[in-house]
Amino acid sequence: MNILLLGSGGREHAIAWKIKQSPLCKNLYIAPGNAGTQLCGKNVKLSLNDFETISSFIDSSAIDMVVIGPEEPLVKGITNYIQNANPGVLVVGPDSRGAQLEGSKEFAKEFMISNNIPTAAYHSFDAGTYEEGVSFLRSLHPPYVLKADGLAAGKGVLIADNLEEAINGLDQMLNKKSFGEASQKVVIEEFLEGIEVSVFVATDGKDWILLPEAKDYKRIGQGDTGPNTGGMGAVSPVPFADKVFMDKVKSRIVQPTIEGLTKQGIDYKGFIFIGLMNVQGEPYVIEYNVRLGDPETEAILPRIKSDFVSLLQGIAGNTLSKYTLDVISDYAVTVMLVSGGYPGAYKKGYPITGTEDIAESDIFFAGADNSDGKIVTSGGRVIAVTSTHSSLQKARDLSMQNAQKIQFHHKNYRRDIGLDVQN
Ligand code: AMP
Ligand code: GLY
Repeated sequence: MNILLLGSGGREHAIAWKIKQSPLCKNLYIAPGNAGTQLCGKNVKLSLNDFETISSFIDSSAIDMVVIGPEEPLVKGITNYIQNANPGVLVVGPDSRGAQLEGSKEFAKEFMISNNIPTAAYHSFDAGTYEEGVSFLRSLHPPYVLKADGLAAGKGVLIADNLEEAINGLDQMLNKKSFGEASQKVVIEEFLEGIEVSVFVATDGKDWILLPEAKDYKRIGQGDTGPNTGGMGAVSPVPFADKVFMDKVKSRIVQPTIEGLTKQGIDYKGFIFIGLMNVQGEPYVIEYNVRLGDPETEAILPRIKSDFVSLLQGIAGNTLSKYTLDVISDYAVTVMLVSGGYPGAYKKGYPITGTEDIAESDIFFAGADNSDGKIVTSGGRVIAVTSTHSSLQKARDLSMQNAQKIQFHHKNYRRDIGLDVQN
């Protein structure tokens, strides 16, 4: 079949790499893609917000299936658009109603409460109820968790250690509109103490399967310090996500989520990424995302042995019950190489060298583009290095060694990915 994949990150390179391994894939197009995706298929210059041009491309290139990587076009309704304009084309990714699970924190919280899905207690406020919001903060104990309701490119969450910082944050979000429309409403919620794990569900709206879980390393600095990033590395499997824990996740969270969507008349076909907190062995939902994670995808896809295109077909074509997921038991450790300065300001355009010498690891390009025949940095997160091995320590060592071999000016990466779960 002819497949169009939308996106341009490390996640999309990993998805393209996996799609390309399938005998079911005839032509693969990636829009807009990056220096890595073009090794797996043909990059096409299309804007992810220009649904009309995407729809014309689907027609002119006889695309059979569209796979949507990032959340923004999903929240803006790309799935609805393609379903109307290109009937019969398979789409992996929820429609705009399903995408509200990520597009609105308030929608997600209401959904969880009405379906008895464990999550932190919360209240939501807007500019008109700002004073009530301040009173609510005064009634809580630190730390305080404030979340902009809408999409804020992963930056919409403030964890404040004291009341003054929390009130100031609420004022910035609601009154000063620090995240524009995304912070017209703010969710304030109870702080959950525990370890996080990312769980990935594939569903055709009726049946569902769990992909391998992963742990993300969100902060820029060693030992989980400094500002949040999109993710500095990932490990899969996660040792504390054992059978007892995962059985609770399935029965208390995944099954009620799928049933809740059905109850609301949402025919969800795609991935649901559930960010969970393990609070003394009990799973709580921190957030839903309506896509795969980045860099988690770069860690979990190398562990999937079964045909990935069949999985995508199962999701979009209501045949997931016929699919058997086959996963290798090896550990995967992914280390992200990032531009110096990220997640703050950083420079782009530095040549990347050494990737051709990498053996025993998979390399997934993220913010990397071709320029005059050379590969240069073009974003904050530049390359993901993934190694798999039956020993977590060996997988870690391989990724660290290869992270060292790849060179670009002002390269930065965390040396402690996987260290905390090693024993
Ligand atoms: P989110 O964008 O919702 O994933 O939030 C970003 C990060 O903030 C999460 O990965 C957590 O580390 C943290 N966080 C969010 N909500 C809570 C909470 N209720 N309790 C503790 N930490 C949280
Ligand atoms: N790694 C977290 C995310 O993709 O949102």
